[in-house]
Amino acid sequence: MPQQEPVSSSLTELQVGSRTSVEGWEAALQRFMVQKAVCRGDRVLEVGYGLGMASAAIRSSAPREHWIIEPYAGVFGLSLTDVLDHVSGILMSRWQELIPLWRDETIDSIIYDADPEHCDSFTGSVEDTFIFARDFVVAAQKILTKNGRIAFIDFSAELQTFKPFLGLLEQNGLRCACHAHFIEPPLGCAYAKTGNSQIVLVSRL
Ligand SMILES: C[S@@+](CC[C@H](N)C(=O)[O-])C[C@H]1O[C@@H](n2cnc3c(N)ncnc32)[C@H](O)[C@@H]1O
Repeated sequence: MPQQEPVSSSLTELQVGSRTSVEGWEAALQRFMVQKAVCRGDRVLEVGYGLGMASAAIRSSAPREHWIIEPYAGVFGLSLTDVLDHVSGILMSRWQELIPLWRDETIDSIIYDADPEHCDSFTGSVEDTFIFARDFVVAAQKILTKNGRIAFIDFSAELQTFKPFLGLLEQNGLRCACHAHFIEPPLGCAYAKTGNSQIVLVSRL
């Protein structure tokens, strides 16, 4: 079990320690990510539960399996029993510890939305987004089935032309497809601004 930070969750905001992890304005974007990434009957791995917005959309897509990796028990609050009734299992740890232990080629779609490692300083820039995605993509690609995909949010909407990202894809035999989604975060949001964001889908060549 990871060291637990105090978690406070409402319908519209999740705070982990002193930082805001996710807010309710992302609901449509989270649904869009799941619609683009998850097919009916998939074996799905969700990384980072947050407010459960993506989780609800995964449930609606009738997956064959739905696993959740989430280090903080407190994010589930009183809904833990309800979540457990609908998923294959919750693994309470960080992805960094669990992904290396996962069996290869067993997951069709991964919704990757953990907090960035240094989320206090995460600005949503293309550089920060690359760092957020890089280690996960390298570690998790081995657990994808042949047609499997990793989905994550790019608030900068610049990752698909960012040279280090293109190099990472090439070195690892991967490709990406991007889907634009218009967002209107509240004024003062530290990691996103009004305009197009993108859902990035990474899969094997
Ligand atoms: C941005 S929120 C996820 C939002 C979620 N997709 C939703 O629809 O509400 C990030 C979540 O990742 C969790 N998290 C933080 N670090 C993590 C790690 N290393 N591995 C897995 N989950 C992590 C946080 O506790 C939080 O629940």
